[in-house]
Amino acid sequence: MKYGRFSSDGLEFIVTQPETPVPWINYLTNEKYCAVISQTAGGYSFFRDCRTDRILRWAPDYKNIDRPGRYIYVREPKGTKGAKIWSLTYQPLRVKPDRFECRHGLGYTTIQTSYSGITSEITYFVPAHDDCEVWLVTLANETSRERKLELYPYVEWLMGDYHEELRYRNIMNLYNRMWFDEAHRLIWGWKTAFWQGMNIKEFKNYGFFATDLDVKGYATRKMEFLGRYNTEERPQAILEGAFEDTPLCSGEDGIACFKTIVKLGPKQSKEFVVILGETEGQAQALGLVQKYRDVGRAREALAETRELWKKRICDNIVVDTPDKDLNVMVNAWVKYQVYICNLWSRSPSFYHEGSGGRGYRDSCQDSEAICSINPDLTRKRILQVTSLIRRDGTSAPGWSDTTGPAGHRPNKDHQVWLTATVRAYIQETGDASILKEYVSYLKDKWVGGWEVDPNFKGGAQRDGEGTLFEHLEKNLDFCFNDVGERGLPLLGHADWNDAIDAAGKKHKGESVWLAQALVRSLRYFAQLCALTGEKEKEQEFLDKAKTMAERINGVCWDGDWYTRGFTDDGVAFGVKAYDEGKIFINSQAWAVLSGVAQDAGRLEKVVKSVDKYLDGKHGLALFYPAFGKFHPELGRISMFSEGTKENAAVFCHAAHFMIVAYCMAGKGQRAYESLCKIMPNKQKDYDLYKAEPYVYAEYLVGPENPYRYGEGQFTWITGTSGWAFMAATEWLLGVRRDFEGLRVDPCLPPDWKKCAVRRPFRGDVYDVTIENPNGVEKGVVELTLDGKPVKGDLIKPVGDGKTHKVRCLMG
Ligand code: GLC
Repeated sequence: MKYGRFSSDGLEFIVTQPETPVPWINYLTNEKYCAVISQTAGGYSFFRDCRTDRILRWAPDYKNIDRPGRYIYVREPKGTKGAKIWSLTYQPLRVKPDRFECRHGLGYTTIQTSYSGITSEITYFVPAHDDCEVWLVTLANETSRERKLELYPYVEWLMGDYHEELRYRNIMNLYNRMWFDEAHRLIWGWKTAFWQGMNIKEFKNYGFFATDLDVKGYATRKMEFLGRYNTEERPQAILEGAFEDTPLCSGEDGIACFKTIVKLGPKQSKEFVVILGETEGQAQALGLVQKYRDVGRAREALAETRELWKKRICDNIVVDTPDKDLNVMVNAWVKYQVYICNLWSRSPSFYHEGSGGRGYRDSCQDSEAICSINPDLTRKRILQVTSLIRRDGTSAPGWSDTTGPAGHRPNKDHQVWLTATVRAYIQETGDASILKEYVSYLKDKWVGGWEVDPNFKGGAQRDGEGTLFEHLEKNLDFCFNDVGERGLPLLGHADWNDAIDAAGKKHKGESVWLAQALVRSLRYFAQLCALTGEKEKEQEFLDKAKTMAERINGVCWDGDWYTRGFTDDGVAFGVKAYDEGKIFINSQAWAVLSGVAQDAGRLEKVVKSVDKYLDGKHGLALFYPAFGKFHPELGRISMFSEGTKENAAVFCHAAHFMIVAYCMAGKGQRAYESLCKIMPNKQKDYDLYKAEPYVYAEYLVGPENPYRYGEGQFTWITGTSGWAFMAATEWLLGVRRDFEGLRVDPCLPPDWKKCAVRRPFRGDVYDVTIENPNGVEKGVVELTLDGKPVKGDLIKPVGDGKTHKVRCLMG
């Protein structure tokens, strides 16, 4: 693979050239502190929320240069024979190293370079239990002469609200105070206050930067350090040896940099640490600095952090298929990506807008996906999301841990997601008591999911409480009743597709995809009613599902596929008669996922249409044809250039909806082929694909783009990871949770003759072997548990905490 490879155990991705087509990044994080870092050490950090508490400066604007970052400049003092200047990471000085390797691992990134006889290894990590980051550095003199080196650890502060900083660059830095603390030998980064709208808050957090090396000098002012008309690539302080102490930065751009001196005898090496972080108040920071100035303790914390991540990722589901690429993804990197999505949702990356917080729909899907490896996290998220539901059944679109529920206009699809997550949690754990948990209702200025109550004053409030079951019921009832003239749910300010944002703005446009998703959730909710013994309600919701399915099958069938929606003016889109955007993947995949297509005997036609119009050499496109002109009746979807983002990209999240649908339809070969085309580590040309080979992209540029078809974009934080994990483990391999136990119902490409899944489930472990001697795609002819035959495809949990052998014979 060009630019890098996986380590032999698959747990590291080793980048072998510093100039990858775009930065290839990693996330180092615990639940509160997160560092995003590239192979050249570019990137930023934040504490609790990537918008409100941003520590370091970096923006997607700088993606092509991938700066600033976490650097250590090296300089041999003036007068040294053949004195050299470089940086221990490729950026910012871009001196070509004699050797380079960046190992992105689970919870750490190690960058190794060699230059001028000095080898360095920096391991960056965020300790599992402390809200800071540590750079553990080993410097080795490979030569046989003594080397005296000036080392300058360097970062650039942002400190505070990232969005305000982008908008009010001229004002925000006037609040800056950065200073060298003589007594504690560290640099503080601080702002007096930040504001959101008119909401002024005192900034109680302090950034800090320290090292265990002997500090000989300190710099806090960016302009003076870099010099006139310079960037971090040519800092005057380093290049010209013009370093001067600047103990205080007041009301201008701040940095933190120390001057230190290290002497290394022949073949001698030295370890040291650099510590960066942000804490509420200063006392805690001093404690962290003291702790991590001790190299030994830093090393222990690194070992502990690595162990924790390894346990989280490796001690659960493990698959063994004939496809090694798939194994690496499912057993390590997709799981890691699912974790990162669960922790930080859709805000911090090298592509996203960094608006902070978490989305309702994204969190529901992320936490459904992580359920089989961390159901406690699913439970926590379910209860957080439930508290966003109002008494009228609508919900806030998301929340931030620092600023509370999000207030902007809600999309109309939020109501359909939570039921599936709750169902998954109960199926996974067997614990239906969560339905009886009491959670408060939200009250804010929004009513009916659309209008603003003019009399409502203040921020979000609590409005009494109800059980989770009641919240779900209200959720679904709202969606069922909030319909347009065809009886389909209103589209409002968009559905799953954020960019169909104008078709329903007059409150008339309807969404066919949402109707299908609703059918699925109504059926799921009926199952929950059955569980709790609510017979009448079960029937009521089954009837509702039937009614909605009939409406869909009555008015949304376009001959060979399902319509995507209707605009406010009653124009159908996602139909043959529409000039562009004639067939959309969502309403085909979900016709299968919801059972609507099967109800009407249209399954084969739906699948055929998808294959014919949406499949291409780089995977399944979101729709066809792309919008070549602006469609004001639909919105933003037609503003993106052809093939990018929601304008007919190969949108990997939606492609996985279809992959699951293929499996439901028994089409293992099609499911697998579609999976392979978008797998990050199966790309054929990384100069074309560009993005990281170890995590999924949100999309690959679609076929109608004039020259970028196949380029990966918006990596890491995407619903793709969750669906990819579920598609592979639950649908392809078919080992999936159900209320009564574990189902084994594989759907494989016919040339897979044997595979295996290790599946911990409700305290036991099931070692499942799947044999497929006759090369079928679906169908279980024999199932045994510890050698004893089992009827159907269901393994009832043994419940003895032991490992059990399951053999599944397909035929
Ligand atoms: C992005 C969003 C997701 C949305 C999708 C389609 O991936 O994170 O919530 O469903 O785009 O618009």
